[in-house]
Amino acid sequence: MTDTLTPVLSADWGNDRAWTLKAYEQTGGYAALKTALTMAPDDVITLVKDSGLRGRGGAGFPTGMKWSFIPQDNPKPKYLVVNADESEPGTCKDIPLMLATPHTLIEGVIIAAHAIRAKTAFIYVRGEVLHVVRRLRAAAREAAEAGYLGENILGSGVDLELIIHAGAGAYICGEETALLDSLEGRRGQPRLRPPFPALEGLYASPTVVNNVESIASVPSIVKNGVEWFGSMGTEKSKGYTLYSLSGHVKRPGQYEAPLGITLRQLLDLGGGMREGSQLKFWTPGGSSTPILTAEHLDIPLDYEAVGAAGSMLGTKALQVFDQTTSVVRCVLRWTEFYKHESCGKCTPCREGTWWLVQTLQRLDAGEGKSGDIELLLDLCENIVGRAFCALGDGAASPITSAIQYFRKEFEAGMHTPSSWAFPPEASTLFAQEVKA
Ligand SMILES: Cc1cc2nc3c(=O)[nH]c(=O)nc-3n(C[C@H](O)[C@H](O)[C@H](O)COP(=O)(O)O)c2cc1C
Ligand code: SF4
Repeated sequence: MTDTLTPVLSADWGNDRAWTLKAYEQTGGYAALKTALTMAPDDVITLVKDSGLRGRGGAGFPTGMKWSFIPQDNPKPKYLVVNADESEPGTCKDIPLMLATPHTLIEGVIIAAHAIRAKTAFIYVRGEVLHVVRRLRAAAREAAEAGYLGENILGSGVDLELIIHAGAGAYICGEETALLDSLEGRRGQPRLRPPFPALEGLYASPTVVNNVESIASVPSIVKNGVEWFGSMGTEKSKGYTLYSLSGHVKRPGQYEAPLGITLRQLLDLGGGMREGSQLKFWTPGGSSTPILTAEHLDIPLDYEAVGAAGSMLGTKALQVFDQTTSVVRCVLRWTEFYKHESCGKCTPCREGTWWLVQTLQRLDAGEGKSGDIELLLDLCENIVGRAFCALGDGAASPITSAIQYFRKEFEAGMHTPSSWAFPPEASTLFAQEVKA
């Protein structure tokens, strides 16, 4: 594992008109596709399996294994669906990738579709990012004109139609089965599993759903090989990835580095905390992953180590907060988001997120009642593992972890209003807590 940046996906983001086919081809773009088209589909699957690439959409499921679940004896059409709905608070890697170098994703789509033998692929992109929708459509047109999409791609006999579908801006439509319902024209709500999408996905046909970054990583693996990919990262979390660093850091942005780098190293690369800022808490993978604190600065940012520390690597969205941030206010803002985005299908999440917001609002206003912390924990306990999809668990994660590390701040909410300009007495409280 190195501790330096390893730009692969982001290597060309600063190039002149990097989003055009001409610029992409000038830096070796579509060479991996040409190689992949000479390979048997199963060999492409084996290559991606052997690389150890794990899904970058949050759960870290092995990508090649997911592709191998597609039953090739099923006579129905096979579909590839790219999840480009990116809406988790703090997560902001797929949108810059699609904006800067959309052809990286399109090349990955064609290779992945060839591997699973799909003749139709979709990119389900968040509708609010109209500039990305336009850029993807323009790139798909360019790719089709150059013979990379459509019938008989580069004379290989492989056909692929690519559809760029704009969603209507619901966070739940990033959940893969809700996404499929939305793509079929229905209200986006999660489906009961099994059946899993690999067997009955889009239009009840075998479907692979993968994150943008997962698919965009594939051309680099085909081009450079399994050993190259495995030379970065850790034993079970291989390769490089995009870490999105945001918050009270000097240079927020996308940092592409091997899995297993630490937040301390990333903060160094980002110029450190802002002047006068001290790290108070952070999320390793967006707001639905349990928060961590300064004591976790040196844990390797891979799936195993972050899990062992009681959180999840998720989307690698590192939101960093300093001593001026009220943890109660921050958690309230996230919970308001989850309440708003709850699709309403199941009671624990629909009702629970509403009650969580009411209770947190009281504590934020300094009007908490005795028993409110226990109420929050009880509500969370009734959501986690009982909600229909992972949105419910994600809504509870920041609350339970914030109470675990900053209980005194919640207790202070019985009589002291929380504030962005965190009052000096509360900072003292935090300092005491860190010492304890
Ligand atoms: C509420 C919710 C929102 C999600 N949003 C996204 C998203 O915007 N993008 C994404 O790739 N995965 C998202 N996921 C995860 C997907 O369900 C799925 O695991 C992922 O697209 C699989 O791709 P991967 O294997 O390449 O990681 C979300 C999950 C949940 C529960
Ligand atoms: S957990 Fe929330 S988002 Fe998921 S199905 Fe239930 S109500 Fe909908």
